[in-house]
Amino acid sequence: MKQMIETWEDIVRNTLSPFRQAHTQGVVEVAMKMASAFGQDGQSVHLAALVHDAMREKDPDVLLLMAEEYGLMIGSLEKKYPILLHGPLAAAKLRREYGVTDESVLQAISAHTTGEKDMGVLAKIIYIADMIEKNRDYPGVERLRKLSYNNIELAFGACLKHNVHHLIERERKLHRDTVECWNQFAD
Ligand SMILES: [Fe+2]
Ligand SMILES: [Fe+2]
Repeated sequence: MKQMIETWEDIVRNTLSPFRQAHTQGVVEVAMKMASAFGQDGQSVHLAALVHDAMREKDPDVLLLMAEEYGLMIGSLEKKYPILLHGPLAAAKLRREYGVTDESVLQAISAHTTGEKDMGVLAKIIYIADMIEKNRDYPGVERLRKLSYNNIELAFGACLKHNVHHLIERERKLHRDTVECWNQFAD
């Protein structure tokens, strides 16, 4: 695992913009703190945080092509917003090219943008950390930060709600996985 983390540290350093590297490092820091607060394996969380945005800066055409190659599901929303594929693609790459089989790590990477139903603690940590890392600055981020080390379920629900609100305010469609995730939370 240590070797895998070093490999992905190199990939992040060599392929992402300084902006995205700083974001990734911010997610690593917050996610590691949350991992120890909520009893999760630090190395698994570290790897998921490092890889989560590894495909975030690929061109839309490249994302669609890669998704086809990997046989990922490409719905109408993914066709319109190929950026939605960056998480599932990074997870697919980690599984197929790097032999990672830890489903909690793969889920955390795959679901970090849309959420999905049945997210484990690790996936919730990455989802939250992605929204509250130190470089993030938007109205309400401080409230989410305060929640995040106390009650992970509450913090996750608050982050999800924030994102669903944001999408609706911009009159954007909701991804089916986001709807399922929200409906499960609100149950
Ligand atoms: Fe992302
Ligand atoms: Fe991110």
